Amino acid sequence: MDIDVSKFFNTCLLFVATIVVAKLISAFIVPKSRKRLPPIVKGLPFIGGLPRFLKGPIFMLREEYPKLGGVFTLKMFHKNITFLIGPEVSAHFFKAPESELSQQEVYQFNVPTFGPGVVFDVDYSVRQEQFRFFTEALRVNKLKSYVDQMVTEAQDYFSKWGESGEVDLKYELEHLIILTASRCLLGREVRDKLFDDVSALFHDLDNGMQPISVLFPYLPIPAHRRRDQARKKLAEIFARIIASRKSTGKSEDDMLQCFIDSKYKDGRPTTEAEVTGLLIAALFAGQHTSSITSTWTGAYLLSNSKYLSAVVDEQKNLMEKHGDRVDHDVLAEMDVLYRCIKEALRLHPPLIMLLRSSHTDFSVTTREGKEYDIPKGHIVATSPAFANRLPHIFKDPDTYDPDRFTVGREEDKVAGAFSYISFGGGRHGCLGEPFAYLQIKAIWSHLLRNFELELVSPFPEIDWNAMVVGVKGKVMVRYKRRELSVSH
Ligand code: HEM
Repeated sequence: MDIDVSKFFNTCLLFVATIVVAKLISAFIVPKSRKRLPPIVKGLPFIGGLPRFLKGPIFMLREEYPKLGGVFTLKMFHKNITFLIGPEVSAHFFKAPESELSQQEVYQFNVPTFGPGVVFDVDYSVRQEQFRFFTEALRVNKLKSYVDQMVTEAQDYFSKWGESGEVDLKYELEHLIILTASRCLLGREVRDKLFDDVSALFHDLDNGMQPISVLFPYLPIPAHRRRDQARKKLAEIFARIIASRKSTGKSEDDMLQCFIDSKYKDGRPTTEAEVTGLLIAALFAGQHTSSITSTWTGAYLLSNSKYLSAVVDEQKNLMEKHGDRVDHDVLAEMDVLYRCIKEALRLHPPLIMLLRSSHTDFSVTTREGKEYDIPKGHIVATSPAFANRLPHIFKDPDTYDPDRFTVGREEDKVAGAFSYISFGGGRHGCLGEPFAYLQIKAIWSHLLRNFELELVSPFPEIDWNAMVVGVKGKVMVRYKRRELSVSH
């Protein structure tokens, strides 16, 4: 009996001791591991997923998303990059305040190109004010006058084409968009007198932004040296233009003028160096992105007779209504063309990866209901190029189907905000979206009204190696002048 009692006592003691030890373990160890960290992409020791990433981030995402889901971490050296793919998990990416998810560190590589004192070289409070200057320079009343300049540039440019012929559409649209951007953003002086000088300098600035520049923006390589010299010369040119506008009191309808007239909250006017830096930033944000999108739009329209006739019919209807007039309000009525551009941009967003740096821990819940904690210190990424083709959001995601945006379907909205992210969204959504659409519509409305076009090269491939991802090789198009017949 005694033996049984002590056995029972010992068992109880063991039981209690086990619970105490378990509690202690859970108090000291489990809290750390209870963090539900995202799964990790398999990789090599130390360099981690670097080789996978270098092969192309989208290829890596295509392999990992089906295995790991919408949230996972790629380790590279000592860095952790956590991907948030899909609207269910990316809301925080787009909405978080700068104190929680910031752009400054991850977009630092732009500083030698944009120059000192602007955008990612300044504190968030100053940057916010500078983005206010962008917002003001891109307001509807300003856009209205930019549109007139866009239309004139398109008319002048295409008047130089012959009766019929063959052209590389990609080259043609790149050139037209540099001219338009010069006129609307950089100003009349540059467009009319200094175009060749300034575009050569912008060419050097462009070439100074290599994939290696993202990691080592100040590496002493010839491309960076040319970039720095070009930037200096551009600063001198703009300083002269600004001084001349100020001394003559001449005011123009362009972004340059808006930036000259902009004032910080404390009343301080912008400096010449800031104006130059902001203009360079505008050109970097808007030029390649728009020219790439207008080329994809053309490639798709010329390969899809259904949509080609739909956009031509829309032009005919608008000509019946408004005659030859093409201004801001007429462009605003081009809904079919709008959807065709938007769909080209869904399939081919030029900015394929957006980044932030996390300063606080945060959690996300996947569509399958799994919760993950993302620790502070991670780089956080999302990818328009991948997310825009998620099959649970977009039906037959690889098919060009502009009607997916019509009332009743609205696939860009039904799964919630941040389903369609070619222009980003939320706190840092693109400020130039209306400008970009107006510009691309102005070009395509002119082409559709005045030319019969036929794609003669194969449908273009994607140039994944470019910093701003666009079209690989030439896009050869045969054209013949025409006048749309309109029954008045
Ligand atoms: C098809 C053309 C364009 C595309 C696809 C595009 C795309 C984007 C994207 C994805 C972002 C968000 C970046 C991020 O979240 O990290 C962005 C931001 C921005 N874009 Fe665009 N963009 C285009 C045209 C333009 C144009 C024409 C301008 C100006 C003239 C412009 C000015 C800006 C500015 C200032 C921001 C920064 C907004 C902020 O951080 O608050 N963009 N753009």
